[in-house]
Amino acid sequence: EKCVVAVDGPSGSGKSTVSRRLAAAIDGVYLDTGAMYRAVTWAVLQGGADLGDPDAIAKIALETELSIGTDPSAPHFAANGTNVDAAIRGTEVTQAVSAVAAVPAVRKHLVALQQAIIAGQPRIIVEGRDIASVVAPSADLKVYLTASSAARAQRRSAEDAGSDVAATEASLLRRDKLDSSRAADPLKQASDAIEVDTSDIGIDEVVAYLLNLLNS
Ligand code: CDP
Repeated sequence: EKCVVAVDGPSGSGKSTVSRRLAAAIDGVYLDTGAMYRAVTWAVLQGGADLGDPDAIAKIALETELSIGTDPSAPHFAANGTNVDAAIRGTEVTQAVSAVAAVPAVRKHLVALQQAIIAGQPRIIVEGRDIASVVAPSADLKVYLTASSAARAQRRSAEDAGSDVAATEASLLRRDKLDSSRAADPLKQASDAIEVDTSDIGIDEVVAYLLNLLNS
């Protein structure tokens, strides 16, 4: 029986780790939609587009050939034939991604790709910001992970090999603000998602709780 799980939430809420663990536990695949926005952003920066020019951004985004890995143990991404696994986590892409993700034509294009991938999979965990609300509104389970900005910055800077916690917190708060205040489709929480605050509970506990919900 088909199973689609939407895992939304801000940066550092634990959504990648939780989504990958859930996918492995149900023998399903994992789709990181944030990595898709990041890969397109990498291509836009490569192409030298002006980040203030939505038409130039859209043109590059629609021409970019994406290869999207869905293996929860090793999700690899390529853009125009180049592996971008490391580059899409870099500072340049992180700083530019909200501007690229705000372009309606980019979102339309990537949402359609995401929906095609979801349609082709029996069991899939989809991680992002608008999965429950836009990409897969009929998902079997919708989860919204949150955490305090301090906890999120702590996690993210540990992942980034000990980058400065205060600078990381400022960077993720800036992105939260851009993502939730953009003109077209601002990111907002789906009203029917189950909210889990991960500030003070471990990832193991979150995964166990969600598996329980899925099996009940
Ligand atoms: O680093 P973090 O986990 O916060 O972000 P991500 O999931 O890799 O997403 C990077 C950026 O892509 C977000 O800040 C949003 O601007 C955009 N995004 C989006 O607009 N819609 C999604 N479904 C996923 C990401």
